[in-house]
Amino acid sequence: DCVTSQSMFRLPGLIDVHVHMREPGAVHKEDFKSGTAAALAGGVTMVLCMPNTAPAIIDSDSLQLAHKVAKEGARCDYGLYLGASATNYSTLAGISHDAVALKMYLNETYTTLRLDDISVWMKHFENWPKNKPIVCHAESRTCASAILLAHLCDRPVHIAHLARKEEMMVVKKAKANGLKVTCEVCPHHLFLTEDNHMSEGRSSVRPRLVTEEDRQCLWDNIDIIDCFATDHAPHTDEEKSKNPGPFGFPGLETMLPLLLTAVNDGRLTLADIEAKLHTNPKKIFNLPDQPDTYVEVNMDREWTIPYAMKYSKAGWTPFTGQKVKGCVSRVVLRGQIVYVDGEILAEPGYGQAIATSSAGREESNVATLNGGLRSSSKEIIGSPSRLIRST
Ligand code: DOR
Ligand code: ZN
Ligand code: ZN
Repeated sequence: DCVTSQSMFRLPGLIDVHVHMREPGAVHKEDFKSGTAAALAGGVTMVLCMPNTAPAIIDSDSLQLAHKVAKEGARCDYGLYLGASATNYSTLAGISHDAVALKMYLNETYTTLRLDDISVWMKHFENWPKNKPIVCHAESRTCASAILLAHLCDRPVHIAHLARKEEMMVVKKAKANGLKVTCEVCPHHLFLTEDNHMSEGRSSVRPRLVTEEDRQCLWDNIDIIDCFATDHAPHTDEEKSKNPGPFGFPGLETMLPLLLTAVNDGRLTLADIEAKLHTNPKKIFNLPDQPDTYVEVNMDREWTIPYAMKYSKAGWTPFTGQKVKGCVSRVVLRGQIVYVDGEILAEPGYGQAIATSSAGREESNVATLNGGLRSSSKEIIGSPSRLIRST
């Protein structure tokens, strides 16, 4: 049939280190059941989930609540973030074994967790275990400030959703100087700009959509980007039709097709996708293997992104109308087919919490990532993905 005449490639299960599942608290926007279906449909087999929920995940009770709802609903594997508050810096280390990383919100965005007092940032940088990442929402000058403070506290920092040229220049310089900084970039900053045809409410996101110069700078410095991450931030179609609308875009179901299109256009390689959505996330976040887990993609399938993707409750996407070439055909997670040709086969509860015990683990691998020179013994960084069939 026509499928076998298309070129199919196999990628490892993708890891999205920046996802908002909205559960607990705003399940009309998304919940673990819907959000992890969207993840699998997008080739993502592990999601790291942000703490700006209701309640926010800032202490033992809220973290246990989040673990309970995640365990019941998740169809793919997951890790949970703790959130830094103005007062919880002395208690978080004691519960860090149940979290994958700490998130610090240092600018205005959709959260109750913004930290303004720089001495509070420093307390968190000092107290959070050094072998677990701290991820900062830190834009523009705040990005430079966060990198400096992490350095002064002698610990690694991961910059979330880097979007602007000025941020890229700072991270690039910090890496060149051997600082332990890593970063992620989102599809909406790689594929959209401020000159889009959306209404103001619909296009609102933090960091904002950038200029064409910023966007080009991200592509020109693709080697500085450690991870791609969606910042899947679902708000409903109705909420986004208002002005102002809440900040954020859904992204789990559209990231891989957009990136595969860039591969078809010669702007990216499958090895880049494997590095930035599997190998580097695993190293930076100390994530376990997912045995017998992979994604089969069809590189030839041409389609147009519809008004809404199938599984997120968002019911809209900022990429509507974009022509793409490449799609997810099949996803296998821990030996089970969990997605095939548009259908989700994994039940809620199939997803597992990743083991986050930090015992015996080394302090972060980010220093080696910066140079990009030392590869781990088991994996060949940047190896082209295995061709599984083509005619
Ligand atoms: O646009 C955004 N939406 N940026 C953020 O930092 C938070 C996110 C959300 O949770 O909606
Ligand atoms: Zn953010
Ligand atoms: Zn976010």
